[in-house]
Amino acid sequence: MSEMFVVRGGVPLHGTAEVCAAKNAVLPAIAAGLLTEGTVRLRGAPHLLDVEAMGALAEKLGGKVAREGEELTVSGAKAAPARLGYELCARTRASVLLLSVCLARFGKADIAMPGGCAIGSRPVDLHLKGLARMGAQIRTEHGCLCAEAPQGLRPASLYLDVPSVGATENLMMAATAAPGTTVIANAATEPEVEDLARLLVGMGADIENAGTDRLVIHGGRPLHGTTHAPIPDRMEAGTLLAAAVATRGSVRVTGVEPAHLLPVTAKLRECGCSVMECADSIAVSAKELRAVEIRTMPYPGFPTDLQAPMAAVCCTADGVSLIEETIFENRFSYADELKRFGANIRVKDGSAIIRGGAPLSGAGARALDLRGGAAALIAALCASGTSRILGVEQIDRGYERLERKLSALGARVWRV
Ligand code: UD1
Repeated sequence: MSEMFVVRGGVPLHGTAEVCAAKNAVLPAIAAGLLTEGTVRLRGAPHLLDVEAMGALAEKLGGKVAREGEELTVSGAKAAPARLGYELCARTRASVLLLSVCLARFGKADIAMPGGCAIGSRPVDLHLKGLARMGAQIRTEHGCLCAEAPQGLRPASLYLDVPSVGATENLMMAATAAPGTTVIANAATEPEVEDLARLLVGMGADIENAGTDRLVIHGGRPLHGTTHAPIPDRMEAGTLLAAAVATRGSVRVTGVEPAHLLPVTAKLRECGCSVMECADSIAVSAKELRAVEIRTMPYPGFPTDLQAPMAAVCCTADGVSLIEETIFENRFSYADELKRFGANIRVKDGSAIIRGGAPLSGAGARALDLRGGAAALIAALCASGTSRILGVEQIDRGYERLERKLSALGARVWRV
């Protein structure tokens, strides 16, 4: 039987929690590890279902993925082409990043259309358009993306219609194998994209303007192994901060990069929280909270991944909050789950309107996706009485033993 969280809510969280390396930096890093015959060492890779899934995909391609304590090593020495079927690809959306890696390394790829969270249609047209401009011939067959670049990838001048994180990462990796200069304009500027650029540079790639929306890649250099420390997980940090203030506690998250969390700390201050930032930690505490308006945007705007945890916070804040989702259309499925706790949420035209402040009461709810699951867990931590959260495997995709971190902060939460 699958696992669930049992929560006895109503306890304010207090204490310190250390944040893991970012899931969304580690997944592309595992893919990048196959670009070389050398070994890429990733420091502090978290234990997550999505990381396991990406490791399984890399191994299917002949890579060797091993854990040595907190270090994950990826060796592409024996990498060889293989079909990546739906069962493997459905486990993580990041599987699509292997498209560029396989093209770069083997001149061909055969990958099932990706899975991932049920939060919207999540097309891959920008990935395919860019790779086609770099010389790949791509067709879809039986639900698989079959790509070939018999003459190798060639450099191109690329423009993304929207600054897609995954497309930027895919095209940046492809460009390292295309001899000459590739420009990616309107590139995503998310810190995880910059982190991948940093890793690739560590492997010998020549990438200019990392972290900006115009990447310049001088491709064709041989890539070698390296050791890389991925950036801290701003989504995990933001989730813990949200849990802290929703329960009216006071918590310090450590091992974070406060600059990456600016849109979140700004909103928490606007809600009435006290926020203290140090070099690599953020401390928050809250007594009374006010309603806020949030609009998700590409970085450095408010991250779509944190709108669900913030919605749980808004359920506890006095007044009417408005959360507008502009990135993924289906990212409000958690609203019905929050209603089970007595939350007053209405979803209309891509926005959630939350009338907060009424006490929440313990209930049974389901984690329908990763961040929505975190939001339900936060609601349970605030609710009086006992709650049960089903679908824990969704939460385990992106949070390493979240219940342990919360218990260490005083929460009464058990995995059963
Ligand atoms: C990544 C993150 C995810 C985060 C998201 C947005 C990983 C593993 N996941 O997902 O946690 O929520 O960025 O910050 O890093 N789009 C297209 N065509 C494409 C690709 C994307 O139209 O070919 C659209 C999407 O529908 C969406 C927007 O672009 O509206 C952003 O998506 P994208 O940045 O690609 O998200 P992911 O890389 O899938």
